[in-house]
Amino acid sequence: MKFALTAATVVAAFISGAVAQTAGQWGQCGGNGYTGPTQCPSGWVCTPVSPPWYYQCLQGTSTTSSSSRSSSSSSRSSSSSSSSSRSTSSSSSTRSTSTSSSSTRSTSTSTATTSGSTVIPTATGNPFSGKTVWLSTYYAAEVDSAADQVSDATLKAKILKVKEIPTFTWLDTIAKVATLDDYLPAASGKIFQLVVYDLPNRDCHANASNGELFFDQGGAAKYQGYIDGIAAAVKRNPSTTVIAVIEPDSLANLVTNLSDPRCSAAADGYKSSTTYALKTLAAAGVYMYMDAGHAGWLGWPANISPAADLFVTMWTNGGKSPFIRGLATNVANYNALTAASPDPATQGNANYDETHYINALAPMLRTKGWNAQFIVDQGRSGVQNIRSAWGNWCNIKGAGFGLRPTTNTGNQYIDAIVWIKPGGESDGTSNTSATRYDTMCGGPDAKIPAPEAGQWFQAYFVDLVNNANPAF
Ligand code: BGC
Repeated sequence: MKFALTAATVVAAFISGAVAQTAGQWGQCGGNGYTGPTQCPSGWVCTPVSPPWYYQCLQGTSTTSSSSRSSSSSSRSSSSSSSSSRSTSSSSSTRSTSTSSSSTRSTSTSTATTSGSTVIPTATGNPFSGKTVWLSTYYAAEVDSAADQVSDATLKAKILKVKEIPTFTWLDTIAKVATLDDYLPAASGKIFQLVVYDLPNRDCHANASNGELFFDQGGAAKYQGYIDGIAAAVKRNPSTTVIAVIEPDSLANLVTNLSDPRCSAAADGYKSSTTYALKTLAAAGVYMYMDAGHAGWLGWPANISPAADLFVTMWTNGGKSPFIRGLATNVANYNALTAASPDPATQGNANYDETHYINALAPMLRTKGWNAQFIVDQGRSGVQNIRSAWGNWCNIKGAGFGLRPTTNTGNQYIDAIVWIKPGGESDGTSNTSATRYDTMCGGPDAKIPAPEAGQWFQAYFVDLVNNANPAF
């Protein structure tokens, strides 16, 4: 909701700016497809943050007009396609990862607004250690509005507790990059958790989260602009530790779904665009965990070894930066960190939960030279044995909020348990006539009626609260 509010605010600013011919402080002032004001207020400079797509008024030393920033058409359109993805999970040894004071990008000057020197960021161990995670104001607004719709005082009180639990901010469109100028300063001194999620031909083996960019419509260059915009915002806010999950489902699809022509067509582009993201964001000091599917996807014997190969290849292509910290598993999925017993839907897979999967994958990566660490999404994993098939992933009925985020993971490979999917946001619409309708979202395990992916799903959220384990 806050994204919607923010976008509306930005649009409103542009409209009013069009009258005044001056964009606001931090406002957009140019870029392909942009038609708003191109002047910046006195003392602010229209700066190419991710040219040619995004120019922004940043604090500077002179008043400026922004002359030639272009305005051509934007590219958003979504296409459709079909099927599973974040479908279907760890035990542990112990090693408390470095309890270092994880200061990271020390103080540096803003690269976009001054010509001062840039401090090369240095990675320091587990980025979650010793730091507080910023609570998303966007998610808090969603939860507040959910609480407003509930009259039962007990339930309302439980709902409001959800606001105290950090979730990730998904940048699923280029337009949302501008929100970082609100969020990153607000998260100063803390961790800001981000999902990078705008690859061209996104969600190649499913429909529900098809995105705005396409390789055959200049998507690779636009994606670079999107990544550049994120990197520039991070550099402007060196006191905020930024931790990012890189592109849910994309590499996993390249392991198992290349028989789908939509994925094979996207494969080279996925790899080169992801490499660009890894290199650019590492240079900005962003700690990254590439998405690694989950136990029921890449944890199968036939998949885990090729998956390890691909992840190590991507780490290598990305320059082996220590900021490419590792892998994120179970993103937006429902698997247990440690299942009391195998869910019948796991059908004999030895890696039947995230601990088993991670404990199997991590040594493979180490053998190939990468000491990757993991984060695990447990946001919706509170209830187990609720799926008729492990591959079902859309708005699974009966799910509950799960283990709370912590660095006390009891597993040497796991940096943190986190909530990556903001619980209450839909996985996909159940409207069969929608362009992005995916049969998974109308399947036997899916709660319906469900709104579009990312939109608030109040009935689902209430279930997550009521079924939470640990309980609220
Ligand atoms: C959707 C995104 C959304 C994210 C978090 C994804 O499935 O495609 O639009 O931001 O979930 O809710």
